[in-house]
Amino acid sequence: MDQNNVLIDIKRVSKAFPGVLALDQVNLCLRGGEVHGLMGENGAGKSTLIKVLTGLYPRDTGEILFEGEPFSLSSPQEAADHGLSTLYQEINLIPALSVAENIYIGREPMRFGRIDWKQINGDASLAIRKLDLDIDVTQPVSSYSVAIQQLVAITRALEISAKVLILDEPTSSLDLAEVAQLFKVIRKLKEDGIGILFVTHFIDQVYEITDRITVLRNGAFIGEYETQKLPRIELIAHMLGKDPETFSLEQTAGKTQQEKTKTGQTLLDVKQLERKGSMMAFDLTINKGEVLGLAGLLGSGRTEIARLLFGIDRSHKGTILLDGEETVISSPRKAISHLFAFCPENRKEEGIIEDLTVRENIILALQARQGIFRPLSGRRQSEIADKYIELLDIKTPSDSQAVKNLSGGNQQKVIIARWLATEPRFLILDEPTRGIDVGAKAEIQKLILGLSEDGLAILFISSELEEVIACCDRIAVLRDRKILSELSGEAIEETNIMQVIASKDVNQ
Ligand SMILES: Nc1ncnc2c1ncn2[C@@H]1O[C@H](COP(=O)(O)OP(=O)(O)OP(=O)(O)O)[C@@H](O)[C@H]1O
Ligand SMILES: [Mg+2]
Repeated sequence: MDQNNVLIDIKRVSKAFPGVLALDQVNLCLRGGEVHGLMGENGAGKSTLIKVLTGLYPRDTGEILFEGEPFSLSSPQEAADHGLSTLYQEINLIPALSVAENIYIGREPMRFGRIDWKQINGDASLAIRKLDLDIDVTQPVSSYSVAIQQLVAITRALEISAKVLILDEPTSSLDLAEVAQLFKVIRKLKEDGIGILFVTHFIDQVYEITDRITVLRNGAFIGEYETQKLPRIELIAHMLGKDPETFSLEQTAGKTQQEKTKTGQTLLDVKQLERKGSMMAFDLTINKGEVLGLAGLLGSGRTEIARLLFGIDRSHKGTILLDGEETVISSPRKAISHLFAFCPENRKEEGIIEDLTVRENIILALQARQGIFRPLSGRRQSEIADKYIELLDIKTPSDSQAVKNLSGGNQQKVIIARWLATEPRFLILDEPTRGIDVGAKAEIQKLILGLSEDGLAILFISSELEEVIACCDRIAVLRDRKILSELSGEAIEETNIMQVIASKDVNQ
């Protein structure tokens, strides 16, 4: 890395929104050939800084230099002309268009006044192959998994140009193998002299891939550090605003297994439930006051189980006993009437209603269950919303803020609040802490344990083994749409789970 090769120099940039100072005199210096981590809690200002840099929002004060020249962009198009490509936090592809069209949208190669399909598809295949992907680029983007869609978005960003590549939480929906694939690409781009700005909440990834780190807290610039010289504990302390001397990592971890004491009655007894093409027959018991974890790689069947139990998908075979009685969960409405709650993993498509306020989003599920003819009073709505804003520490100036103005992690908390507000007796959480910072993650894990102690039965799905281990009483390990084994007590250990996932299947 060339020390003097400064591509972008952000100096004392500030940006306010009504009621929020999102950026307060922030600095950031990105060099060619480096991967620069941008870290901070939910709402710290990371995404806002990127949007100001790329011209999506105007800045209030401060200066930005690009290769030493003053630089001010008024549109993302101009950013692209300068060689700045950005992948925003929420994937922005057009689901119905093909992979190729998405990669070249707005810049389609033309021939005789028409889109040159042969060229577009050929170019797209080449571009996709640079990432070691092998997919049919003529298929609609929606026919691929979220993970593949993310890689398509990265391909598009790379094709637009590249002096600077900005990635806002690109790995939050990728599994380990896909992250490795992305990092391979990032390392190659780095060798080519590209400057990469990388936002993530995964501490391991930051240490694996970045050269330097800039930390923001509550919109303020905290510091710039060389990754190798910054102990993890100090990084976390800077993000949380705690003194590293008095702050220990144990504080952020969930309860230990020894502290747990509980075995409740069985709430759900699932027998040989099967859905052809999505989940092989499985047995599962879920007890009151217990957190049951589902571990396994992305696509192993974790979400499929959740969808079956919540009535989103119908099973072809098998039974579900609820409190000992055979029950058919034929739709989410049925599930909700039995006091089930499901917090889905894909908050943009299945959860958040962007134009409604934080309050309206929080009371939505509760109101739906009550029926539209029994509306909650305005006062009751505010009471409920404020309770969960406080409980989950949702950063918002008020409960009447439009939810789209919240940072990504805080939107996630709003969805969790929505389902907690229904006071369920069975709660399904699918990747509830994705995109959530370390502090809030620990809070949510604590909350889960607290709820289970109050008798709630919880099904907890997470790609992060550490948190499954910290939160769960039992863990069912899945691979290839099958439950391979169940671990409990002493057997709940990272190596055991990994071994099961990696084990040879005797039936194959
Ligand atoms: N368009 C907007 N209108 C009003 N407030 C906004 C807007 N965009 C962001 N904010 C506020 O600015 C602050 C910073 O948000 P930002 O999205 O930059 O956080 P972040 O660091 O990216 O967090 P996360 O890790 O959760 O993605 C938050 O308090 C957010 O609510
Ligand atoms: Mg963000």
